[in-house]
Amino acid sequence: MENGNYQKELTPEQILRVIFSYAAKIANEKSLDQLLILMADMGRDLIVADRCTMWLIDKNQNQLWTKVAHGVDEIRIPLHSGLVGYAISKNESLIIDDAYLDSRFNREVDKKTGYCTKAVMVIPFQNNNGEIMGAYQAVNKMTVDAVFTQQDMEHLTLAASYAAKSLEAAILHREIEETQKEIIFTIAEIGESRSKETGLHVKRVAEYSYLLALKYGLSEQEAEVLRVVSPMHDIGKVAIPDAVLEKSGKLTEEEFEVIKSHTNIGHQLLNKSPRKLLQAAAIVAHQHHEKWNGKGYPRGIAGKDIHIFARITAIADVFDALASERVYKRAWELDRILALFREESGQHFDPELMDIFMDNLDEFLLIRDAHVEHF
Ligand code: C2E
Ligand code: SIN
Ligand code: SIN
Ligand code: FE
Ligand code: FE
Repeated sequence: MENGNYQKELTPEQILRVIFSYAAKIANEKSLDQLLILMADMGRDLIVADRCTMWLIDKNQNQLWTKVAHGVDEIRIPLHSGLVGYAISKNESLIIDDAYLDSRFNREVDKKTGYCTKAVMVIPFQNNNGEIMGAYQAVNKMTVDAVFTQQDMEHLTLAASYAAKSLEAAILHREIEETQKEIIFTIAEIGESRSKETGLHVKRVAEYSYLLALKYGLSEQEAEVLRVVSPMHDIGKVAIPDAVLEKSGKLTEEEFEVIKSHTNIGHQLLNKSPRKLLQAAAIVAHQHHEKWNGKGYPRGIAGKDIHIFARITAIADVFDALASERVYKRAWELDRILALFREESGQHFDPELMDIFMDNLDEFLLIRDAHVEHF
């Protein structure tokens, strides 16, 4: 640190101001990621640290994880590594003046990031039942002394215990959402396995839909909802007899009528629940074979009467169906698929979405190539 860049400890008044300004934001924040970032910022400001990180324990994966900035992926480290791992396993707060003199310190992270860690403080924190949930970690004190003090520890401990309640609520909320997503994905795979399609089809349709949703301008949250529900579009096929679904040749008119019912069946299976995700899944199952020009099924609705999620899924599904082998058809070459897409823009498909798809074809092909079948 250069001379003149040193900062001063906060006065009691400034400390109060920091706490008040963050308390309101933290109390109103439901997103776990956002909370972790807010609490880290609050900790950093309170004790004049260069960096502060709020680590949470992931028991399932034996890891610690955190989120340091919006839009950046989660960071994960092994549960028992380094100073944080030590503090958590011993339920012991640590104040270290020079990490490089401490054998528990994991130098790999500095090596990777080029950052230079010196002073470190780690404070484990607990939930209401006294179980350790994670730890606050502060790195490098920005005052002249350049070391953390007992008073810093008290301040950060206070901040941690204050914030633990909000964190617990957000974790529970996230746990429920993740469980919903897993159940939905499992159901989607069952639907696809009935029609002898692979889990990779499910994965690709999810990723194509997500990308197209973002490019179209839907919010990150909406795109994420679609990523989860788009693979469910064919769940109604569970009710279609094998003899029809697995017929190798062309379908008769009656047989195709039977197949078409997978849209209404999927809708009925899914729309029993008022939950947001399942409602969205119901709409996609219902409407994914509707066409922009109104000549699709089951209802023949047209244009923007077709939900945006279904208009997007239609493109993702057909792109993948054409590129894949089916019992009734061979895989198509890319050029042939693109020719059909150009012809069907404004007919089968929303022309605005089709333009976006074509303009970003490279990115869609990257997704395809990242999820190829291996025989
Ligand atoms: P799928 O195999 O998942 O296909 C989804 C959609 O991709 C189809 O919806 C269609 O829009 C498009 N698609 C797939 N293959 C072709 C193709 O060779 N040419 C063209 N122009 N489009 C294609 P669609 O037509 O409503 O079919 C819905 C589902 O009905 C299909 O899902 C598949 O499970 C079944 N199906 C359709 N045609 C046949 C067939 O000839 N034989 C059998 N056994 N099943 C069929
Ligand atoms: C998020 O992590 O930002 C969304 C899920 C949640 O509400 O925690
Ligand atoms: C619903 O799925 O019930 C809403 C949209 C639709 O009628 O398909
Ligand atoms: Fe379908
Ligand atoms: Fe499909």
